[in-house]
Amino acid sequence: MSEQLKDKSMAFGEARYPDEPSTQDIIASDKVEAPKWVRSESYEYLGSEDISTDRYYDPEFSKKEYDNLWNRTWQFACREEHIPEPGDYYVYDIGRHSFIITRVAENDIRAYYNACLHRGTKLRASNTEGCTQEFKCTFHGWTWNLDGTLKQAVCPWDFPHVEEEKFSLPEAKVETLAGFVFINMDHDAPSLEDYLGPEFMDHINNWGLENRYIQCHVSKLIPANWKLTMEAFMEAYHVIETHPQVAVSNADANSQYDTYGEHVNRFISPLGVLSPHLKGQYTEQDILDQFTVGDASVLGDVDRTLKDGETARQRMADTMRSMFEQATNTDLSDVSDSELLDCFSYTLFPNTFVFPGISLPMVYRFRPDPKDHRMTIYEVFFLRPVPKEGERPDPAEPVYLDEFQSFTEAEGMDPGFGAILDQDTENLIMQQQGVEASAKPGLTLGNYQEIRVRHFEMAVDKYVSGQ
Ligand code: FES
Ligand SMILES: [Fe+2]
Repeated sequence: MSEQLKDKSMAFGEARYPDEPSTQDIIASDKVEAPKWVRSESYEYLGSEDISTDRYYDPEFSKKEYDNLWNRTWQFACREEHIPEPGDYYVYDIGRHSFIITRVAENDIRAYYNACLHRGTKLRASNTEGCTQEFKCTFHGWTWNLDGTLKQAVCPWDFPHVEEEKFSLPEAKVETLAGFVFINMDHDAPSLEDYLGPEFMDHINNWGLENRYIQCHVSKLIPANWKLTMEAFMEAYHVIETHPQVAVSNADANSQYDTYGEHVNRFISPLGVLSPHLKGQYTEQDILDQFTVGDASVLGDVDRTLKDGETARQRMADTMRSMFEQATNTDLSDVSDSELLDCFSYTLFPNTFVFPGISLPMVYRFRPDPKDHRMTIYEVFFLRPVPKEGERPDPAEPVYLDEFQSFTEAEGMDPGFGAILDQDTENLIMQQQGVEASAKPGLTLGNYQEIRVRHFEMAVDKYVSGQ
């Protein structure tokens, strides 16, 4: 290993890519100043021990997750836009559990356990949504009102032992935040606000995600454990090797990593800046020419020739600002260059990523396949700003891809972005197999660039051990 990159005089966790501007340095040079939630750092060294690998394949570990983690954590079940009117419902499954998320009244959203209280039949099929005034079981016809109270038991003379008031549909806790509907099976769980912590609440309130709509929703099976799959998206460390096509315009190795409390972490990965790995190999004009991430591919329609002294990053920020102003009929003059351009990624424990930036406005959700803990149901939602004028667009219907389909086949997804996700998928197939084949019982992590993985697994360990 190159000695100049391994400075032993520094405390663990303090080292950064040598002689390169930090994410904060890059952002500080921008024309339109970034807000405080962007101009802050929250890194903490959390140790250097290996992460045990049995968690990625042992069925016992998966069982402990179902018993102690999934039933005690806040999970993103759907968006409010899925259930805008009273009577609208959306089915969310996690493991063997299933919930009917329904809007009972304008400000009353409930999450009913999706099972008949007679002989257990699911009241609504998985992966469905709709509008109703009652939930009637298809087996014998028992029916519940929208508010969860029992409306009718067929042949009630045969059920003198059924007390109507004890036969309301059981519920999980529900809270909403920024247009997201979260549920938690644990009635003793802290509030969502306490769970996510004050820093994140401060950040999210700046984004206006409630004013976004789902423009594209893709769901795909990935042949790897859900935690391994999530971890593939927690660092920019892999960009230079896995996604070389974006490294020319991504400051991958000087990305910033932060942790907030137990359940939230983030990175900021600056775009429009050359990877430090490629220093001296490309000009500013090359950076601009090769910038193709997500929506930036439409930069192809505009003049791409840089003026003397102009940076690729500044040109991209300026171009994106005017592009999005036109597309959404809004004034973005106060929105910082960083918010327009950079990749902001937050993990909300256990299974949601929020990318609130404007160029890559996404949400990821990861769930174990209930039939196989070594498979993940991975979903990508693109959240676009609701246009100022006209009707709010309906949320996109999900596109389902099987294990063997490419993300580039998904209608509505930018093929360049789909190719990036395919590269991650190829890694995950090899990583799951390698982790199971290995003689080494632990994963070794970088102290800084892989802090989100460690932080995430610390929360997993805490829940799984029953704390
Ligand atoms: S199982 Fe639902 S009515 Fe019988
Ligand atoms: Fe990746």
